[in-house]
Amino acid sequence: MAGNWKMYKTPQETVRFFERFKPLLSANHACDVVIFPAAIDIPAAVHAIAGTSIQIGGQNLYWAKEGAYTGETSAAMLSAAGATWVVVGHSERRHHVAHETDADVLKKTQAAVAASLTPIVCVGECLEEHKAGKAHEVLIRQFAGGIAGLTEEQFAQIVIAYEPVWAIGTGHTATPEIASKAHTLIRSEAEKRFGEDAANRLRILYGGSVKPENIQGLMKEPEIDGTLVGGASLDAESFARIIAAA
Ligand code: 13P
Repeated sequence: MAGNWKMYKTPQETVRFFERFKPLLSANHACDVVIFPAAIDIPAAVHAIAGTSIQIGGQNLYWAKEGAYTGETSAAMLSAAGATWVVVGHSERRHHVAHETDADVLKKTQAAVAASLTPIVCVGECLEEHKAGKAHEVLIRQFAGGIAGLTEEQFAQIVIAYEPVWAIGTGHTATPEIASKAHTLIRSEAEKRFGEDAANRLRILYGGSVKPENIQGLMKEPEIDGTLVGGASLDAESFARIIAAA
């Protein structure tokens, strides 16, 4: 269960979140719990989670080792700061912030794996593509351009998140059936390229307006292995309730 904080919270607010969140998290929760704060908050988050099973990730990285790339953060920098995961190819970066392409997503994923970070590679169709019945076509294209170029060893290290853009921050969650069909398609693309074992081992998260109120319906689907939560992960109580449902 992953919480993407996007551009919310200062380092001080990060510390306050974990003060509330840690006592709420049952010691025997049955899943990985990862929070993705803004890069500037990672040191405070890493300090706050010491001695717990909570993990921290970056929301983005750049593929070069270092260099004249103003504003960017490398995989090695994230790792040195204590992050162990990273989100790659979030739709807000693909469509608004940085116009990331599938080729960029592939390079970032490779850089993340090389630095032993676990990438959550995001895919998903826009509203127009959804309305035009092109969702599965888009997913196949994003898989082919952004994921199929990995080696089998690299693929074994990644997690994929299906995040339909029309469901992000809108309150319109994909129904469990829509999400499940998309996950099945992604897993079958994975099987074609990387084989049955690798496809079965792949964890596919759903993201888009996940809330404590709809988590149970989503997690009942065998194809949904977890969720990537935006808004509802900013509040300690609501994210703890979502994790409890897993
Ligand atoms: P919301 O849960 O706020 O819809 O955001 C989903 C998301 O983009 C997670 O990466």
